[in-house]
This record gives sequence, structure tokens and C-alpha cells, in this order.
Amino acid sequence: MRKVFDEGEADGAVAVQGIDLDVRDGELVVFVGPSGCGKTTVLRMIAGLETITAGRISIDGRVVNDLPPKARDVAMVFQNYALYPHLTVFENMAFALRLRNQSRADIEAQVSRVSATLGLDRVLRRKPAQLSGGERQRVAIGRAIVRNPRVFLFDEPLSNLDAALRIQMRREIGALHRSLGATMIYVTHDQVEAMTLGDRIVVMASGRVQQIDAPRDLYRYPRNRFVGTFIGSPAMTVLPGHVTIGPPPEFRTTSGAVAFSLAGTLAARLAPYAGRAILLGFRPEALALTRDPGRDGPVAALRGTVEALELMGSDALVTVRMADVELTARIDAQDLPLVGATIDLTVALDRLHPFDADTEEAIAPLRSDSRA
Ligand SMILES: Nc1ncnc2c1ncn2[C@@H]1O[C@H](COP(=O)(O)OP(=O)(O)OP(=O)(O)O)[C@@H](O)[C@H]1O
Ligand SMILES: [Mg+2]
Repeated sequence: MRKVFDEGEADGAVAVQGIDLDVRDGELVVFVGPSGCGKTTVLRMIAGLETITAGRISIDGRVVNDLPPKARDVAMVFQNYALYPHLTVFENMAFALRLRNQSRADIEAQVSRVSATLGLDRVLRRKPAQLSGGERQRVAIGRAIVRNPRVFLFDEPLSNLDAALRIQMRREIGALHRSLGATMIYVTHDQVEAMTLGDRIVVMASGRVQQIDAPRDLYRYPRNRFVGTFIGSPAMTVLPGHVTIGPPPEFRTTSGAVAFSLAGTLAARLAPYAGRAILLGFRPEALALTRDPGRDGPVAALRGTVEALELMGSDALVTVRMADVELTARIDAQDLPLVGATIDLTVALDRLHPFDADTEEAIAPLRSDSRA
């Protein structure tokens, strides 16, 4: 499907370029991407709150393009909760059931089942203004659950909560998904939320799908530079450089601050790039202190100065400077180097991510089915 706002006008912007996605029954699919990339627009199109410019949306095999929101049997949980302020928690949750003319006993049974699951029994008689942010959030989710929709749509439901509550609610939504076996589409700009919740993740940027994959594969086989740097924290560092002709072929950054011989699968993948510019991505776990226990596979050695240390608890991030280049390594926090010290690093070559300098697409990914 595709969405263009202000069609026909000169400034008509393409908000969503074209998404082809089949969400499986009971699946939790997360859309993630930076602000303005089109996530909310996608949800609103599925909910029927926004017309689609081209394409087709079907739910359980039924095309719903022309159905109004009510007839689609989807429930959307909005970022701002959108609770009725003058109604109690119970009445907020019962609202949709009343519209369906269900009996009072039926409504009470359904609301109390859901409020028990969500831990809202204590606050059923209160109004939204008398609730904490997390409780309001749970009411908004509860209101969706009592409707028992075919599809749940969540638009950044946790972004108003503090960090601890966000993690707790994230777990609750994951547990809810498993216990209901419900089909959910969840939008967030938080890549950690996406990685921990999603069965599959759709990474979007500028209205385009960048990659659709399971969290682990997204991390291990980013299809392009955007996905490589967007997923993962701290972010992958991407160094521009070129592959020398050899033998042996080397990778060398533009200023020569980092240079090492290529070996193993990386050498094979980069063979067609001899004499050409590339981008090479380093995740913090591809780098280790040389004095730490070695790893399998081919390695390269680097020497630099410790620029900064960030202690994370069990491990630490050390930023190492080599002339005009900085790389971050994730190391054991037991035995930290000093800031300003010279240290030796080992690079695990087969954990690096090469990208084409022109297209920014991953070079010869080891997995061929990672295409979106
Ligand atoms: N009603 C509208 N009319 C015109 N343009 C719109 C409209 N709604 C959204 N857009 C544009 O479409 C693009 C996608 O917007 P959307 O709200 O889907 O982004 P988003 O990914 O949800 O961002 P955020 O993370 O900030 O919520 C943006 O460039 C936005 O300015
Ligand atoms: Mg949005």
C-alpha cells in the first residue's frame, strides 16, 4: 500500500512509499523508524482513519479498503490514550460493549476479566485524572482488549511513561500478546522496544521499508547502512575507506588511521571491491582488548588511545582514538584501562559489516534471504 497526502497539489508528499507485508495470525509485528518516517500513517491506514492512495489492505482474507473503521474490527491504542475524562475506568472499558448492546452482566464479566489481567481492579471507579500514567496506559490497552478485535494497533503506547514503567509495560504487552494469541501491530521509534517485543520488525525510513526481519536477523544481517546503524546500541560505527588490491588485500580508511589485512569471509566478500571505496561497519562487540581471551576466526590488530570509558555494570564501553577515527569496544568491566592510555585492540574480521560506498547496501550478505 501507498499513501500520498494532498494528492494533486504541488507539495503532495509521499508519506509511505509502498509496503508489502503479510502479518501472520497471532503475530506481533513492530514498525520502527525515526520521527516522520510514516509509522503512524501506516497504522491509520490499517485502522481506516486514513484513505490509501494505492494498494490493498485485507484482514483475514477480506479486503477492507472501503470499509469504515468500525467495520474493520481493529482496535487502536493511541499514544495519548484518548480516554473519556468524564467516565470512570469501568465505563471507559465498557464503552464499546455498550455500543454493541450487550447485556449488563455480560459487560461486567468481560470488563472484570480484563481488569484483573491488567491489575486495574482497585481503580475501576476512578476517573482518568485520578490515575498514574501507567494506569491510564493500561486502561487504554484494556479498552482495546475487551473489544476482542481481530487486530490490535498500538501507536507508541509507552512513550509517555518513565523508563522503569516503560520496561514493565513492555513486558506486560509481551505477556498479553502470548496469552491472548492476538495479532498485533506495534509502532515505536525505540529500537530496544522493537527488538524485545517483535516477532518481526519492519524498519522504515523516509516512508520506505528498509528491511523486514526477525530481531536477531535484523541485527546480524542488516541489509543496508541505515538498518546497521539504527538497530543496536551503542550504534555501529561506519568508517569510509577503500580496499587495496594486494596481495594481501587491505582495508584502509581514507586518512590511513586504520588499516589492516583482510582474511576469511570478509576477504572473500570484498574481493570484487579491490581498488574501490567501501564503508565498513564496526559494532562494539567486534572489538576486544587484545589482552582479553582470544576469539575464533581471523582477527586484525589495532592500537589507539583511550578517549573515554563508560561503565555499564558488568561490562564497559571504551572509546579508542586512532588519529581521526574513533571506535567503541564493549569490554569486561573487571579490569578497565585508564583514559589516555595506549591500548591494543583485536578486531574480529568476520563480525564486520561492509557496505557499498555508493548504494550503502550490504556487500554480499552471508544470508541471501534478508531482502525485505
Ligand atoms: N494529515 C497530513 N497531511 C499532510 N502530511 C502529513 C499528514 N500526516 C502526516 N503527514 C506527513 O507524513 C509523514 C509521515 O508522518 P507519520 O505521522 O506517519 O510519521 P511517524 O513515523 O508516525 O512519526 P513520529 O515518530 O514523529 O510519530 C510526515 O512527513 C508527516 O509530516
Ligand atoms: Mg507517529
